[in-house]
Amino acid sequence: MKILAIETSCDETAIAVVHVSESKEEVSFDILGNALNSQVKLHEQYGGVFPMMAKREHAKILPSLLIESLKESEQYSTIDNQLPTTKEELVRKLLEREGNLADELLRTIKTIKKPDIDAIGVTNGPGLEPALWVGINFAKALSLIWDIPIYPINHMEGHILSSLLVKKGISNNQFSITKPNFPIISLLISGGHTELVLSEKINEYKILGQTRDDAVGEAFDKVARMLKLPYPGGPQISKLAEEMRLNKAKSNIELPRPMINSGDFDFSFAGLKTAVLYKIKDTPIIGEIQNEIALEFENAVTEVLIAKTRKALLETNASCLILGGGVSANINIRREFKKMIIEEFPDVELLIPETVLSTDNAVMIAITTYQKIKAGMLPSSDFIASGNLSL
Ligand code: KG4
Ligand code: ZN
Repeated sequence: MKILAIETSCDETAIAVVHVSESKEEVSFDILGNALNSQVKLHEQYGGVFPMMAKREHAKILPSLLIESLKESEQYSTIDNQLPTTKEELVRKLLEREGNLADELLRTIKTIKKPDIDAIGVTNGPGLEPALWVGINFAKALSLIWDIPIYPINHMEGHILSSLLVKKGISNNQFSITKPNFPIISLLISGGHTELVLSEKINEYKILGQTRDDAVGEAFDKVARMLKLPYPGGPQISKLAEEMRLNKAKSNIELPRPMINSGDFDFSFAGLKTAVLYKIKDTPIIGEIQNEIALEFENAVTEVLIAKTRKALLETNASCLILGGGVSANINIRREFKKMIIEEFPDVELLIPETVLSTDNAVMIAITTYQKIKAGMLPSSDFIASGNLSL
């Protein structure tokens, strides 16, 4: 089965083409094409993502990413798609919602020969609604023109399921899909979410706890901003903290571990951010204090995430722990979770996505589309963007 997947929920535009093949021994998952454009440079100057600007950028770049991903998967050729007038009108209507780029979008799509694709998956939430809509309308237009079934996909489920892709060898494009043991605890840590999720069986998600204010990634980004580090702040803070650890340097700054003993599975990171603000109030941000805050902040976050997850593993008797979302790319968090599993839960399987698949991408939408089809989900062209879509 070949799947084309589209992701535009935040500030990455991504299109992937994958081939999933089942044999007696395993399910192979090959990435045939993977095109991604990050808007980070654009949003950097504002320290955050502006939905309308993100939307415009997605619409601008989608046609060339489509061509790139098809070329990479050796499926690109041009023809003049003569559409029946009624169909062309439908497609135009869809694309016109994306403003004055409709003509350009339509022209590009019409010149591409129908590729060998069995299903289209597109993120329909959660995320920034204007951004989500661009991807959805683009995907629906492709589905209409090429007559390929389309599936709405939950971005957070994508973050969970990307961890099932296990590299076969050294190639970054050849994976097999592992079958996890249930129950599964997933810790989702991204720019918009911090959630502990229990799955007793496939396709079933129960949120045990979540953040009451800021998401972890958001806290990383805001603290980085206070430290005058560029956006997105996660990788920047991580780099400084790792340097400190390498040099065996200690931090003289103490930050709280919010809600670490609260007895539930909820999180709160807004207070941590305020605590940082308080520490640097009268200090010019230079050298050492920047490094010390980065180290102590990252340690505080890691400790809270570990403590809550440990509690969830103990209380649910989980057989598998999944980490997902952009923050799961963090080296220290990955290392500390591996350590906890080895030392305290040797029977629990730990699944963490490849670093490149931790942050937003379309491959995670492709594997989720596959899993949904396997689970009996029916295609639908009648869905909307849903900014607050939950699992
Ligand atoms: O999942 P994601 O790519 O987008 C959302 O769905 O939100 O997550 C983005 C978030 C950003 O806040 C970014 O700072 C954070 O993930 N992030 C990291 C690292 N890489 C990305 N945070 C900590 N350490 C990292 N290495
Ligand atoms: Zn994400």
